[in-house]
Amino acid sequence: MNLKTRNFITLLDFTPQEINYLIDLSAHLKDEKYEGIPHKHLSDKNIVLLFQKDSTRTRCAFEVGALDLGMGVTFLGPSGSQMNKKESVKDTARVLGRMYDGIEFRGYKQKDVEALAEFSGVPVWNGLTDKYHPTQILADFLTIKEKFGYLKGINFTYIGDSRNNMGNSLMIGSAKLGLNFIGVAPKELWPDKDLIDVCLEIAKDTGATIKFTEDKMEGTKDVDVIYTDVWVSMGEPKEVWNTRLEQLNNYQVDMSLMKNAKSTAIFMHCLPAFHDKETEVGKNISEEFGTLYPRVKNGEMEVTDEVIESNYSVVFQEAENRMHTIKAVMLATMSDSYE
Ligand code: CP
Ligand code: NVA
Repeated sequence: MNLKTRNFITLLDFTPQEINYLIDLSAHLKDEKYEGIPHKHLSDKNIVLLFQKDSTRTRCAFEVGALDLGMGVTFLGPSGSQMNKKESVKDTARVLGRMYDGIEFRGYKQKDVEALAEFSGVPVWNGLTDKYHPTQILADFLTIKEKFGYLKGINFTYIGDSRNNMGNSLMIGSAKLGLNFIGVAPKELWPDKDLIDVCLEIAKDTGATIKFTEDKMEGTKDVDVIYTDVWVSMGEPKEVWNTRLEQLNNYQVDMSLMKNAKSTAIFMHCLPAFHDKETEVGKNISEEFGTLYPRVKNGEMEVTDEVIESNYSVVFQEAENRMHTIKAVMLATMSDSYE
């Protein structure tokens, strides 16, 4: 398997074999890290991280992953560069591509990460756009594999805003690797029909199934994984909370949903999660909407604190795996094959 010079901007561009290779390479790099085996395979390289939106996991995963591989790293935050204000994405790409060996982008538009890939001449990695979050899926699937030992045939439920970057990407990943994906949400929050059709087509070859339901008990019955994400994503206007709470407050993941799944089921979330009052947003929303929607009155939104803190939850293992998987993506796209 040789992925050198490839961009990583959507899982749609990768075959099941390539995605499985990246997951296995991640597990290998994780073992090496745990065993203290140095793997500075890219010590003559430098990368740049472009962030238009906030991040803890993705930024730290790229920085630690790059440093472990021996690379130099430059971070450019939302206000630190000329991009967008005085310089187009296309021009930025042509400048950065002459200085760096790889570019990470987190921002709003998928077309911006595509433009970076088209014009920079170096591998570009999508660290999240409004449409997709592909590096997160590798971490999620590595975690599932660690827990269950396999991916094909896993019964996987995503509950919440199913047409956000996570809903879209988990559906694509499931289609590619043969998982049985169920999206649970009100109909108006299901993904674009075109994307569902693309996934159904992929599923024909991989044995995956892709289904949607508005019924949360039906959609979580005897599944292996229950996954959720925030109800309002970065970049969406504050006013969206109004409708989103009305649409999704009844889709909060609580213990009754976890108990409806298999006894061996796990709970997953890409994080950050609203599960208590210890965040500014959680506190504000609970104060503003807690009377109207009692489920959110303790700052618990998409998931209850009890579930996050329970034995079902693998969210911190999943967060750690961001680093091992992102490291694998950088290594695979910047060098010749590693087995
Ligand atoms: N899951 C994830 O992408 O987290 P950050 O926003 O902290 O990077
Ligand atoms: N859907 C979320 C994912 C965060 C990792 C967002 O875009 O804000």
